[in-house]
Amino acid sequence: MSLEPVTFRPIGIVHSPYKEKVGTPIQPSFDNTPGTIEIFAPYQEGLEGIEGFSHIYVLYVFDRAAEVKLKASPFLRDITVGVFAMRAPSRPNPIGLSVVELKAREGGLLRVVGLDMLDKTPVLDIKPYAPKFDIREVTRLGWMEGAMEDTSRHRADARFGE
Ligand SMILES: C[S@@+](CC[C@H](N)C(=O)[O-])C[C@H]1O[C@@H](n2cnc3c(N)ncnc32)[C@H](O)[C@@H]1O
Repeated sequence: MSLEPVTFRPIGIVHSPYKEKVGTPIQPSFDNTPGTIEIFAPYQEGLEGIEGFSHIYVLYVFDRAAEVKLKASPFLRDITVGVFAMRAPSRPNPIGLSVVELKAREGGLLRVVGLDMLDKTPVLDIKPYAPKFDIREVTRLGWMEGAMEDTSRHRADARFGE
């Protein structure tokens, strides 16, 4: 079965100190890097109330992802798994999801901490992070079990996670 393509329009852009993939944190929780998310003028009204939240979800496009691979090696472990079992940028729909801390809103500018996005990454959506809705007690962590502590938290090698 195939559906019609879906088109999204970026609502903003990430301003991040990370200009290249190597050295960029592999998840926001692994870093305290400050940056800003600029929401474009036509969408700024939609930010009303977001300053009341300490954390937000940012949905964005991996606009510099390498070619799509349905199986690859995740950043955290030297194994091969399916793309939907990991968080790598190269995926059929290159959508990224990061929870970042929202320090302040200045009009259409969100001052955030904890970036794993490259500079100039196009932003698709912002949502408030709500523990009541989103925290789950997990009972299985697949290949990630035991993988988190002993491996690098920044992208060090272009081989992994493409
Ligand atoms: C493993 S992904 C995780 C992203 C997100 N937290 C998620 O789970 O969807 C993070 C890596 O994506 C890469 N990356 C960040 N922004 C990108 C962009 N605009 N295009 C391609 N790759 C990007 C960087 O190498 C970064 O270390």
